[in-house]
Amino acid sequence: MLTDPGGPIAERYAGLGWLMIGLGTAVFLFVVAFLVIGLFREPSSRARLSENAWLVGGGIAFPLVILVLLLSFATGVLAVGGGDHAVEIEVTGYQYWWEVRYPDDDVTTANEFHIPTGVPVRLTLHSEDVIHSFWVPELVGKVDMVPGQTNHMTIEADRPGVYRGQCAEFCGVQHANMAIYVIAEEPDDYERWLSDMRAPAATPDGALAREGETVFETAPCGSCHTVRGTAADGERGPELTHFAQRRTIGAGAAPNTRGHLGGWIVDAQSIKPGSLMPPVPMSPEELRALLAYLEQLE
Ligand code: CUA
Repeated sequence: MLTDPGGPIAERYAGLGWLMIGLGTAVFLFVVAFLVIGLFREPSSRARLSENAWLVGGGIAFPLVILVLLLSFATGVLAVGGGDHAVEIEVTGYQYWWEVRYPDDDVTTANEFHIPTGVPVRLTLHSEDVIHSFWVPELVGKVDMVPGQTNHMTIEADRPGVYRGQCAEFCGVQHANMAIYVIAEEPDDYERWLSDMRAPAATPDGALAREGETVFETAPCGSCHTVRGTAADGERGPELTHFAQRRTIGAGAAPNTRGHLGGWIVDAQSIKPGSLMPPVPMSPEELRALLAYLEQLE
């Protein structure tokens, strides 16, 4: 956050961070210098007479000036984010994953989302269970996601890239495995991505993938997960309509590869103990078909 800000808001936060480090260091050196002087200086009656002046100056006036300076600067930095926003996105925290909705486009996804570069993006933050905290260090500071309360924040990236975020409020045993990725793209690429996301799931191509779709709908999968365009319309777990795009499984718990995905489906608890995903026992044939299907959900 301090060394590599990804946009104008993060730059202001980085400025505040460096100012605090700089002032803190200056105050520290100042105090140590006086400590050393005090240790080696012979007390004289004149010095004792000015003790009150030192107390008022060094103990009250000096900290007051420093703190007022920091407070006014910090208030200015924290106030960024009002005004117009090109994009509105809702992020909801769950134990232990993130749901991301684009309300203007009727798009829902999870654990990673795209934004256009060069424009402020307004995030609306909720939680459905305990307190989480949204934090993408290269883009912005943290804002808590509190049950029953709506918070807002603005992010902006000035160059394309993948910015990794992390839940920053301890929320349970898998708090550490609650990552989120913000993918910043040029506005044209972003619009293309969004229009792909609006489409329902790809029709399965090939007998194995078609069989996999049936497995998905008949096994417990569809009672917790939605794949738009199919009978699967569960709402407890992440929406999987375009699941194959995602980089990770389980909000950063494992890379989204065939092997990890197979392991995740049959025994998610061995990868992410405490997550809500139950073990889903199935035959090797069913699992192969299911994996073929999920890999096609681009
Ligand atoms: Cu969610 Cu920590």
